[in-house]
Amino acid sequence: MDLAAVVLAAGKGTRMKSERPKVLHKVCGKPMAAHVIDAVEEAGAQIMVVVVGYKGEEVKKELGNRVVTVMQKEQLGTAHALMQARPAFEGFKGRILVVCGDTPLIKCSTLQTLVNESVRTGSAAAVLTSMMEEPAGYGRVIRDFSGNVSKIVEQKDATPEELEVKEVNTGIYCFAIDGLFDTLAGLKADNAQGEYYLTDIIDFYRKKGLKVTAVSDARPWEILGVNDRKQLAAVEKIMRQEVLNDIMLSGVTVVDPENTYIESKVEIGKDTIIYPFTIIEGKTVIGENCSIGPSTRLVDVELGHCVKVEQSTVYSSIVGDNSSVGPFAYIRPDCVLGKGVKVGDFVEMKKVSVGDGSKIPHLTYLGDSEVGKDVNVGAGTITCNYDGKNKHPTHIGDGAFIGSNANLVAPVRVGEKAVIGAGSTITKDVPPAALGVARSKQKVYDKWKSGNGNKD
Ligand code: UD1
Ligand code: CA
Repeated sequence: MDLAAVVLAAGKGTRMKSERPKVLHKVCGKPMAAHVIDAVEEAGAQIMVVVVGYKGEEVKKELGNRVVTVMQKEQLGTAHALMQARPAFEGFKGRILVVCGDTPLIKCSTLQTLVNESVRTGSAAAVLTSMMEEPAGYGRVIRDFSGNVSKIVEQKDATPEELEVKEVNTGIYCFAIDGLFDTLAGLKADNAQGEYYLTDIIDFYRKKGLKVTAVSDARPWEILGVNDRKQLAAVEKIMRQEVLNDIMLSGVTVVDPENTYIESKVEIGKDTIIYPFTIIEGKTVIGENCSIGPSTRLVDVELGHCVKVEQSTVYSSIVGDNSSVGPFAYIRPDCVLGKGVKVGDFVEMKKVSVGDGSKIPHLTYLGDSEVGKDVNVGAGTITCNYDGKNKHPTHIGDGAFIGSNANLVAPVRVGEKAVIGAGSTITKDVPPAALGVARSKQKVYDKWKSGNGNKD
């Protein structure tokens, strides 16, 4: 069977009180509409159309590479939104899954159940429903005496008896394409909101004698719609727990799932332990046997195996096997640390490569630098990489030893196995195996206290 999907994502999301289109608000690091697109794709949709409207160009830019987008210039309602997708279905014969872009928890398996039921019952329209303890805000599913669905009424149009109904419309449907768009074109907007409601198609089809089905298979949490930021947080919490469950079941210890935030694309190897108050975002990949946290933030980071990161922030960088970072380190983008590297407390780095076995144990700033293997960088070392206009590089060769409190004024090179005397301000290159020292000689004044000492 041919299956297509339309994701309705044109609404502004007024209740979000946001400049950003609602469907681009992120849940576990991914726009909510992208979660919906993933689910329909997994369910087997061969054509995916997203109806965009409010700030449509922005939505298209974020989601458009995987789907066909169509524009709904004015947001006149969900039926009108689906109408806009008509040109994308020239010559298409099959079924169309319609999903709202603001229900990011929907599962592929539930969509498949809906599609299968719609095929099995030969329904012109099948709507996915769910029982909700607190149905306020959702359309209610009204069934006749024999239990067949007869119509859906919106909260604002419902009678007091209808408001008592706990079976709600999830906003997810499977339609046979035959006659669908002609029917949509004929719907009226005579309701409390003056909108063209997609839900009206149920009543319309039934009156025409076409088969309509309500499939009440969705778990209530799965179809939560996000209309405001409270619901956004509720959905985020559920999805975060799901992501953490998957991670834990794959062999990772999450010490305190209530206080750990991991986005959906993150990959973590087995026997890694994640301590509380840790946030892992973006395309982060972590190897096996690592120890992460507490209080650590990793964004787009690649960590090898047996890496330890404690109370630190790392952005867009790579850390090799058996290395350790922190506590209190700040690794900014484009750092590449080799294997067995130690970056200790109060170290900041930006655009730095560090060779295997090097140690930068404390109180250091390195920027735009290349550090070789087995280098020791003393406390208080600073690469002076910025002259107020341009950034300059610092090279430190293999086996070099940088004494404490050195300023390396870039551009500058410290050769292999060279030594920099503590407290030096190095402005000229130091050749391999040499000692570079740049500080005034120590003077000692004997008998200074008694006033008999020699003076300059
Ligand atoms: C809708 C359903 C309601 C259901 C609920 C489930 C209708 C009339 N009501 O209500 O029965 O219980 O979803 O979450 O369908 N959209 C457009 N263009 C428009 C209007 C909306 O693309 O002109 C999109 C929105 O971006 C959103 C989706 O359609 O993704 C649903 O719209 P929304 O306003 O959130 O509808 P609800 O009031 O939640
Ligand atoms: Ca909604």
